[in-house]
Amino acid sequence: MRRPGRPGTLAGMTLTITRLTADDSTSIEQWFHVTEQVRKHEVPHFPPMTPRSVRLMLAHEFPGRRNLWHVALRDGEPVGRVDINLPTEDNLKNLFFSLEVDPRFRRQGIGRQLLDFVRSVAADNARTVLMSHSTLSLPGLPARDEAGSAFGAAMGFSSTLPEVQRRLELASVDEAVLADLLVSAQAKAEGYRLVQWRDDTPDDLIEGMAYLDSRLVTDAPMGDLQVEPELADTARMRRIEQVERDRGRMTWRTGAVHEQTGQLAAFTAITAYDELPWHAWQQITIVDPDHRGHRLGTLVKLENLRLFRAEAPRVEVIDTFNAAENSYMIAINEQLGFRPMCAAQNWQREL
Ligand SMILES: CC(C)(COP(=O)(O)OP(=O)(O)OC[C@H]1O[C@@H](n2cnc3c(N)ncnc32)[C@H](O)[C@@H]1OP(=O)(O)O)[C@@H](O)C(=O)NCCC(=O)NCCS
Repeated sequence: MRRPGRPGTLAGMTLTITRLTADDSTSIEQWFHVTEQVRKHEVPHFPPMTPRSVRLMLAHEFPGRRNLWHVALRDGEPVGRVDINLPTEDNLKNLFFSLEVDPRFRRQGIGRQLLDFVRSVAADNARTVLMSHSTLSLPGLPARDEAGSAFGAAMGFSSTLPEVQRRLELASVDEAVLADLLVSAQAKAEGYRLVQWRDDTPDDLIEGMAYLDSRLVTDAPMGDLQVEPELADTARMRRIEQVERDRGRMTWRTGAVHEQTGQLAAFTAITAYDELPWHAWQQITIVDPDHRGHRLGTLVKLENLRLFRAEAPRVEVIDTFNAAENSYMIAINEQLGFRPMCAAQNWQREL
């Protein structure tokens, strides 16, 4: 580990890597501390997590996903974290990870050691494709620390699927623009009726939801990422809803039903956490390929936004991510008033 002459490089550095559990409040606090240091340095506009939200996430795992979250200590001090996510029902060769080092302790080989740890978990679980992500700057916007890109490239990862993160400031929404968009979308969406619901999906729509949700990987741009479609499974959808409730996540959805067939042709979702009253995420929007060209994407987004604003009036901003190449979805978001904040890069490496 020693590189003579490099200031800050430690000889014989040993990290203690501890896996988090929901009842280990010390490790959760340490993990949270590192996460906050990195968030403030990297993406200070992002919503913070809280020890409570971390505990809930550890206690309630999504079906088909094994989460192995770790904090790394050096001489008892938290210096990094590495969170590993193993899909268990599909994508069995993949391992997703987030790896962060407190900005005060960078360029000392900690990232490299944590990546060795990720590799050992991959070997133990017969995973051969590693995937991660990092932040990038966008021209004309506040510069972001791009250490993650340099690290990813130095560690032999290839960069794939650039994404852009956008934000909608609800106080500055132009109501006249939304009204015009709605009228022109409705004109093209004849033969469809809208359905709206909060949290659990009504029984008559759950099959359609599971089908559309499983299509996301096939339909959304994924660059070169080696991700397989997830299984369409209504029981799994129900388990996901249960976990969302257990984690304190609220979801507002709007869908479009094709009146002739009764099929769910499109849906979108906005989510928020009870303990972060100022913030929400615009999640996926998907339109079935058989029903494209009817402005259903615009329609469900607009109407979901209307429902959400009426029911969650304290929320100030909505954030979202889009693949940079997803020009259709980006055009809709820009029309609604979403503006770029930063970019992100996905990384992949085969072992
Ligand atoms: C990326 C990150 C984890 C690196 O942690 P670190 O402890 O500084 O990494 P290391 O010291 O082990 O660096 C390993 C190599 O990566 C490259 N590297 C890391 N940061 C770099 C930077 N800012 N500029 C140029 N090269 C860099 C270098 O080749 C370095 O080797 P060297 O120091 O011998 O030249 C850290 O910057 C971070 O937490 N960033 C935010 C989260 C993130 O983007 N994670 C990346 C996921 S792929």
